[in-house]
Amino acid sequence: MNIVIAKDYSEMSRIAANEFAHAIHANPSCVMGLATGSTPIGMYECLVEEFRAGTLNFSYSTTFNLDEYCGIAPTDPNSYRYFMDENLFSHINIQPQNIHLPNGNASDLEKECLSYEDAIAIADGIDIQLLGLGNNGHIGFNEPACSFPVTTHVVDLAQSTIEANSRFFETSSDVPRQAITMGIGTIMKARKIVLLASGDGKADIVKRAFFGPVTPEVPASVLQLHRDVTVIVDDSAATKLD
Ligand code: F6R
Repeated sequence: MNIVIAKDYSEMSRIAANEFAHAIHANPSCVMGLATGSTPIGMYECLVEEFRAGTLNFSYSTTFNLDEYCGIAPTDPNSYRYFMDENLFSHINIQPQNIHLPNGNASDLEKECLSYEDAIAIADGIDIQLLGLGNNGHIGFNEPACSFPVTTHVVDLAQSTIEANSRFFETSSDVPRQAITMGIGTIMKARKIVLLASGDGKADIVKRAFFGPVTPEVPASVLQLHRDVTVIVDDSAATKLD
């Protein structure tokens, strides 16, 4: 595991964008796993800048997002599809048919999970996966549990996640209670993983996840077992590290 401590959010975002730009330059048709949330916004801005500068071409790339809320339409401003359009997809030349997010509005959610997992396999898996880190150690929406969920599945969101994500909604009762998420097995099959964490609110969980025992109670700790993980944290998320 490679741990990079950036001096601030902006440097963290630039380093992460470089990892993705490098993957696209090395293989223009690379398959990227993407995340939403506050943390990757700066990285997406850097990628958009590079596209506008003419140094990055997304026309052969494919993306699979980690997760999506259940019961929310893709046009809803709180959906992850909307977030991705706003922060990345509408600013770059990715082909719409190459963009994938789970459909949280599917009439048969179990079937949707199976087809999402199949679609990733048909694309020959994920070359580079971006992750954020939940305050409770979740990656995707794999919440603390007594075992690691393997494949894409429907999850009941933890109360701590509902509270953390309520900042995006009018009230916490508007936060959906369920989501579809890639499983830990899906994430661990990615050939390369880049995890970002920013701010002092993440300092404790960064230490527990990457310097504590591997346990499903801290889902991100499983990344210690992956052979190509780069954790990029800013200075304030690194304050509890020796
Ligand atoms: C988002 C996701 C989540 C977030 C995590 C951190 O697609 O899967 O695991 O990465 O909740 O969110 P932020 O970046 O808002 O702190």
